[in-house]
Amino acid sequence: MHLAVIGTGYVGLVTGTCFADTGFRVTCVDIDEEKVRTLRTGTPTIYEAGLEGLLQRSVREHRLTFTTSLPDAAEMADVLFLALPTPPGADGSADLSYVLKVADDLGEYWAAQATRRYRVVVNKSTVPVGTADRVRAALEKHGLVAGEDFDVVSNPEFLREGVAVTDFMKPERVVVGTSSERAAEIMRSIYEPFVRQGNPILIMDERSSEMTKYAANSFLAMKVSFINEVANLCEYLGANVDEVRVGMGLDSRIGNKFLYPGLGFGGSCFPKDVQALKLTSDQMGYHFESLEAVLNVNKRQHDKLPGWVSDRFGADLSGHTFAVWGLAFKAKTDDIRESPAISVVKALVARGARVVAFDPEAIETTRRELGDAIEYAEGMYEALEGADALVICTEWHEFRRPDWDRMAEGLKNKIIFDGRNLYKPQKVADLGFDYLSVGRPHMIKETA
Ligand SMILES: NC(=O)c1ccc[n+]([C@@H]2O[C@H](COP(=O)([O-])OP(=O)(O)OC[C@H]3O[C@@H](n4cnc5c(N)ncnc54)[C@H](O)[C@@H]3O)[C@@H](O)[C@H]2O)c1
Repeated sequence: MHLAVIGTGYVGLVTGTCFADTGFRVTCVDIDEEKVRTLRTGTPTIYEAGLEGLLQRSVREHRLTFTTSLPDAAEMADVLFLALPTPPGADGSADLSYVLKVADDLGEYWAAQATRRYRVVVNKSTVPVGTADRVRAALEKHGLVAGEDFDVVSNPEFLREGVAVTDFMKPERVVVGTSSERAAEIMRSIYEPFVRQGNPILIMDERSSEMTKYAANSFLAMKVSFINEVANLCEYLGANVDEVRVGMGLDSRIGNKFLYPGLGFGGSCFPKDVQALKLTSDQMGYHFESLEAVLNVNKRQHDKLPGWVSDRFGADLSGHTFAVWGLAFKAKTDDIRESPAISVVKALVARGARVVAFDPEAIETTRRELGDAIEYAEGMYEALEGADALVICTEWHEFRRPDWDRMAEGLKNKIIFDGRNLYKPQKVADLGFDYLSVGRPHMIKETA
């Protein structure tokens, strides 16, 4: 069976590489010529642990190829996975133009062929409920017959950036939405190597599958907003959210995952998916109240760190320099889309501050977005030189056990605003720093 993956970004590249690793022949398509050129050499275009080795092996063994030609993939592939962008449109709903355009192009190409053969078109992008029907209609428009020439399947992706390869190789579940038994059988056979430990492949109808992805992401986002509100209240009450979240999380009905307070959620999925589900809901005339709260709380949380900085240094931050550790929306990725760190940096710059930032992987992606609006340091300690305070925005491992002497030497003032709760407050205070973290006692030295 020959597979194609259309769109070779965070999801598509991992999907194509992992399928190729199990022996499938895979053709990956992207419109970005530079990306395709780079990938052909076996060089990853994103930072993702474990990806490079797999990519190089499959490219070398000619199982995995990259092209800018959709017709090539349309010709060869039996099953085509659409891993295309679905960014928020002007009103916040998911923009389906990428997905529908590719479906239209595929329909046009296949309809023009002298002979027809059956294909499966799989939506791996996160798409609103009803999109499988729209993709089917885009293919039927060209005279293709559903069930004979093609079937459309919903197969939402649940991988997490940072551990995407592991997640793809060992998914907790695979969700497949289709009403075609033929397509379901093909999907089972494709995913069989990934669920050998017995994790389920759930076959359901298309709409339930599409809804599952949005419901899962929205629920996780809700957990994050909930614990952030608990943390905020802890600050007023003198409670410590670290103790509270452990006490809560040990209840198996709650669970300890996604109970870490911080700067709010970010990334390319949660913000846009919660927003899109809310809009879908509005369009149905149903007011999904908790989603609105999840988004509002998150927006407020993004403003938290700049608020602390201004409380200390004033609303006008001109003349002040801040070191920022972390730009990626979370550790182990170079992705800065909707990153709370970028919100923090932009807020500091808007208030007149000079920002010197360091991130182990996300400097290049940030430079593309912010250019010269901030300065970029070579290393975490270089960022501190002469800064008025340190602002921590991403929970990278290398920030967890810093050299406190070098920190004290570099910083002008021993002040840390920690949006990721990396250290024990008392320990940092004992080292002579002022230390503000989320939902825990603020350690501030008395000033005369
Ligand atoms: N990033 C994640 O962690 C994640 C996880 C689960 C689901 N998703 C969903 O998967 C989808 C893709 O997300 P992503 O993060 O991989 O996006 P991405 O922006 O990293 O990748 C999309 C790729 O598609 C390419 N592309 C655009 N138009 C094209 C076309 N006409 N033909 C071929 N290629 C084209 C782009 O050049 C880009 O390389 C989205 O719907 C997203 O919500 C993302």
